[in-house]
Amino acid sequence: MQDKINQYLAEIEAIDPQNKVELEDFRLKYLSKKGLISVLFEDFKIVPNEQKKAIGAEINKLKQFADSKFLEFQDLISTKEESDNESTIDLSLPPIAHETGTRHPLWLVKNRIIEIFERMGFSIAEGPEIEDDWHNFSALNFAENHPARDMQDTFFVNLNPDIALRTHTSSVQVRTMETQKPPIRVLSPGRVFRNEAITARAHCFFHQIEGLYINENVSVKDLKQTLLYFAQEFFGKKTQIRMRPSYFPFTEPSVEVDISCQICGGKGCNVCKHSGWVEIMGAGMVDPQVLENCGIDSKKYAGFAFGMGIERITMLKYQIKDLRLFSENDVRFLRQFHHV
Ligand code: PHE
Repeated sequence: MQDKINQYLAEIEAIDPQNKVELEDFRLKYLSKKGLISVLFEDFKIVPNEQKKAIGAEINKLKQFADSKFLEFQDLISTKEESDNESTIDLSLPPIAHETGTRHPLWLVKNRIIEIFERMGFSIAEGPEIEDDWHNFSALNFAENHPARDMQDTFFVNLNPDIALRTHTSSVQVRTMETQKPPIRVLSPGRVFRNEAITARAHCFFHQIEGLYINENVSVKDLKQTLLYFAQEFFGKKTQIRMRPSYFPFTEPSVEVDISCQICGGKGCNVCKHSGWVEIMGAGMVDPQVLENCGIDSKKYAGFAFGMGIERITMLKYQIKDLRLFSENDVRFLRQFHHV
């Protein structure tokens, strides 16, 4: 009997239940009514009287030891399971919404603009961001000493002053005219670069979208009607446009295009600086010399071009006051735009 007690003591000493099931196995084996310790108590009845005191003490010691082991592990396992439960998924809970990203406002506005011009038959033409002097300047009639070529505005490549980051998407006009035959109807969205200090109103890079239409008998009224349609589709049916004379080396005549102020409806407010009009783009009839530079017969064909800043249009549309927000990637800003 003493041997059994010693054996059980050693076994219990060594046990290490990891979970409730193993603990219950332990309880059933030693502590339950039919467990080994109960069997010992049964057997105790036939222990000779003179040994009863010593053996009885041993069995009680074993029983207490088993009890305390049981309680100790019960505590351990239940605290362990509690902390496990915290990370356990409750399958009956409603699912946690999966957070997807939102579309960038510039992307949304760009696509909205494209969609409107696509209805008028324009397709997309793209060109490189790293351009040569010919496509960015010379073919577009920028004189040799035009200030836009100056280091102030253009990022030139150090080793080769003939290569620069394009300063406008008009470079794609040139590339398109060089490779396609009229009629041409293209839209060129893309990133452009200018060497400017970064402020709320200026950045060293931004996005433009350029339009070009070349055909026989194209005139200013085609330009005006195209832009009026765009303005009313994009900003609303009540929108009016006006053209003011301006200058670009590659268009003649050149204009600046304004829309009636969206905020005050033309009455005058802070946004339109009390003029009732807000500038949205530059445009004009492609200079015949530019057509010739690109291999298009200027006696047969004429065309118009326009170019707008996507940031500017987006700022007008959403009343955004700081250009830097577009490139800071702050989700609190970006999350606000889902569709146009
Ligand atoms: N490229 C001009 C700019 O960046 C915009 C423009 C495009 C003007 C097409 C006229 C025609 O300011």
